[in-house]
Parts: sequence; C-alpha cells; structure tokens
Amino acid sequence: MPTPVIRVFKTSDDLSREAAAQFSGAAREAVQARGMFTAALSGGHTPKRLYELLAAPEFSSPLSWDRIHLFQVDERCVPPDDSQSNYRMIREALLSHLPVNHFHRMEAERPDRDAAAATYEEDLRGTLGTPAGEWPRLDLVLLGMGDDGHTASLFPGSAALNERRRAVCPNWVEKLGMWRITLTLPVLNAAGRVIFLVAGEDKARALADVLHPSGPAPQLPAQLVEPAGSAAEWYVDPAAAHLL
Ligand code: 6PG
Repeated sequence: MPTPVIRVFKTSDDLSREAAAQFSGAAREAVQARGMFTAALSGGHTPKRLYELLAAPEFSSPLSWDRIHLFQVDERCVPPDDSQSNYRMIREALLSHLPVNHFHRMEAERPDRDAAAATYEEDLRGTLGTPAGEWPRLDLVLLGMGDDGHTASLFPGSAALNERRRAVCPNWVEKLGMWRITLTLPVLNAAGRVIFLVAGEDKARALADVLHPSGPAPQLPAQLVEPAGSAAEWYVDPAAAHLL
C-alpha cells in the first residue's frame, strides 16, 4: 500500500485554496485528456470553503463545466432543503454560483432508501461507462473525516463498512440515530485520487490513529481508504496535525 501523502498547511484557508487548485488542475487535465472529469464531493463543514473557492473565477473560469460531472460521496436522509443536507451546503457554496450542468444529487429523502441508492449507482455507472463487474472509477474523491475516524457515511461498526457488492447503499448510523446513503469502500478505493480534508483540534486524535496506527489491523474507517490509482492525500491544518 503506497504511503499516504500528508500536507500540513498553515491555515485551513490555505488548505482549501490548495485543494481548489488541485481540483481545478485535475479537472483541466482530465478534460484535455479524456473529454470528461468526474469527482465526488463530501459534505460536512470542512469542504465548504473549498467549494466557495471553486465557485470563484480564479479556479472556475478555466474549467469546462459542461464536461465535468459532480457526484456526492454521501447524503443524510433528509429533504434537499434541510439544514443538514449535504446537497444544500454544496448548492449554496458552489452550484448556485456556477453553470454546473452535471450535478448528480443523491435522492436520500426518498422513503425507499434502497431504491434511491440503486438509482444513484445506476446513474454513477452509466455516466462513467463502468463495464459490468467493475467498480465505478471516479477521477477524484474529496473526503472528510470525523473525530471517530469515519469517512463518507462509513461509521465505525456500521453495516455499510462491510459492503462489497453495492457501490452505493443506505447505512444506519446508530450514534446519530439517522439513515444515510453513501458510496461504499470499493468505490472510494477505485478512485484515481482521494484527497482528505481534515482541520481542527477535535480531529487530532483520530488523525494520529489513522496515519500512525498502533496495531497491525486497520481499526478506523478512514484507514480502509487505499485508492488504487495513487496514495491517499491528506490535507490537514496544524490543529489536526499536532499529534502526528
Ligand atoms: C457528512 C460527511 C462526513 C464528513 C465528516 C467530517 O455527511 O457528514 O460526508 O463524512 O466528511 O463527518 O465532517 P466535518 O467536515 O463537518 O468535520
């Protein structure tokens, strides 16, 4: 397994700015090389600044948004206008400012969560042209990490962590008492690139446990993310990195 690449930035704004530059560069290269760029965006708070920067002309102007397909890493099972909705955050920070023609929203508000997940997987596979029997390969996946080492909506001890048949599935999160829909580990690990964005003192313990594990076996969900295309990249601020 390639050694994770760890980049410690002076501030979380510097972290977000570099992530925006990397996203923009990867998108330009992919569109130039293959006529398309596909990326999956996480929710939560950390990536919001990145999405706001991506909406700024500095990073968005050079991009051919008609050739870029944006997906969600995961979604809370709430309406899209709910304050907890990842889609709402992405819409407010990014989509409402840009001519993004291809945003693939997870319809996690649907009562039939399995059907919603299956519909999303079909859309993902169809858009990427994934051959039968293979995992969808996204060019880039942007991930966050919780203070318990979860990533996407793959929480410690939750059923979706062990999903190896579906690319997208519902997941009951006991600690939150709520349902989520999430990309599964095989899809995260099939990605060309995975960039984790982790900031804040509350993440320091989990980050140290993930990047410098004491035992041989991975214990935390974020440790299980080992992208086939390249080493996982960790963009962190000093507060999150101080135990490394
Ligand atoms: C979500 C995210 C989740 C997030 C982490 C970190 O739906 O909440 O996808 O995996 O990345 O919980 O969240 P913060 O960035 O808010 O700390």
